Amino acid sequence: MEFQDVVRTRKMVRRYADRPVDPAAVERLLRNAVRAPNAGFSQGWAFLVLDTAADVARFWAACSPGDGGEPDAWLRGMTTAPVVIVPLSSKAAYLDRYAEPDKGWTDREEHRWPVPYWHIDTGMASLLVLQTAVDEGLGACFFGIPREQVAAFREEFDVPDTYQPIGAITVGHRTDDEGAKGSPARRARKPLDEVVHRGQW
Ligand SMILES: Cc1cc2nc3c(=O)[nH]c(=O)nc-3n(C[C@H](O)[C@H](O)[C@H](O)COP(=O)(O)O)c2cc1C
Repeated sequence: MEFQDVVRTRKMVRRYADRPVDPAAVERLLRNAVRAPNAGFSQGWAFLVLDTAADVARFWAACSPGDGGEPDAWLRGMTTAPVVIVPLSSKAAYLDRYAEPDKGWTDREEHRWPVPYWHIDTGMASLLVLQTAVDEGLGACFFGIPREQVAAFREEFDVPDTYQPIGAITVGHRTDDEGAKGSPARRARKPLDEVVHRGQW
């Protein structure tokens, strides 16, 4: 697929066909994810891959938003995904890496960081997962794990304290029904001139 077509056609898909995803495609999502740029080549990321019905069910049992009552349209669609990938970031990995001699931030002081590079880099890796899914002819959706569900998620999957899920990504084959509509159905893309400042703000 042409790169421009991947960028142009990518959008979040919130309902999937009842069809498994080829493990080779999942492998490629992950191989491309770790090609993402990352500060100091720290690679302070991890990816929890859930690709069996049982493991995906464990994810939704731990992480479903709402009060546990009837699932809404969003959840009914999202739970059809045969694969969930949870990207996690490690602040500790960056503090360790930047304390090395070539970086020299031996005090491991967090205030040195202009923004949290650990989340940025894991986000960049996540975009590569989303774009690779399109290139594989699949659909995917990045979404947040509600704050109040993170402890249950950690507990269910034995996630170490040093890793934080930055969200989760459903992956599957697309159908004509793309599930719950996202925000683009309710608001327009901002024109370039509104967000780009050339030469001066
Ligand atoms: C950090 C982040 C969090 C998001 N959280 C959710 C979410 O919790 N649920 C959801 O359905 N979509 C979520 N999205 C998807 C956005 O709604 C979507 O990317 C945006 O509306 C643009 O639409 P598009 O990606 O389909 O082009 C999230 C996206 C990002 C980058």
